[in-house]
Amino acid sequence: MDYKNIFDSHAHYDDEQFNDDKEALLSSFKEGGICGCITCGTNTVNSLSAIALAEKYDFMYAAVGLHPLDIEDEENENFIDFFRSLSKHEKVVAIGEIGLDYHYDTAPREKQIEVLEKQILLAKELDLPVIIHDRESHEDILNILKKHKPKGVVHCFSGSVEMMREVVKLGMYIGLGGAVTFKNAKKPVEVAFEVPADRLLIETDAPYMTPVPFRGKRNSSLLIPFTAEKIAEARSATAQEILDLTSKNAKELFNIAY
Ligand code: NI
Repeated sequence: MDYKNIFDSHAHYDDEQFNDDKEALLSSFKEGGICGCITCGTNTVNSLSAIALAEKYDFMYAAVGLHPLDIEDEENENFIDFFRSLSKHEKVVAIGEIGLDYHYDTAPREKQIEVLEKQILLAKELDLPVIIHDRESHEDILNILKKHKPKGVVHCFSGSVEMMREVVKLGMYIGLGGAVTFKNAKKPVEVAFEVPADRLLIETDAPYMTPVPFRGKRNSSLLIPFTAEKIAEARSATAQEILDLTSKNAKELFNIAY
């Protein structure tokens, strides 16, 4: 497995699962063929650490935002102003990870929607893409995206082919990760087959969503080839073609120079 031009459009390298070996791991990325990676914040504290990582590694970029599962912990009422100031940093390329999570429902849905809409408006004000988390909230996510029409990506896309078409029609991208390799993955594989080539992104969501055959272990951008191979199989392409395509798409969406 000797791939190059790997752009991981979604990871969380501030996660404590990387505490012990982060430097050694990230230092090996270039040799592993990784040309770009976006590490996403989920609250005000780890959005700052995402920027710190992006400052340290030239291939690393940061997204800043408040995740629906972090809303309850968030005591800073001025989080929008805070993210606005963070986004001035040259390596902040998106507002994310933001969205709705109706699986865990840790914050009331009305509150989740309010926080999401505020951040989408911030992204539009700043002309930045959004990175959207949608867990069991497809209908509300689609309605909100139709209402505000931000640019961006629905990451770890878990909707149907029909929903994918609606998202693509809005000009947005579809992020696919380790879930396409899971044994019971029917919808993600259908989406991988159907999604237009210029709208596909590849991602890890590291340390989560680890592709087969490492499912259950910690994920990292070095494992993206397993996901690329599965997507390639669905599209009758080579894995390197999928990596080249998704890398080009990520650089376009996140406005990263070639
Ligand atoms: Ni994530």
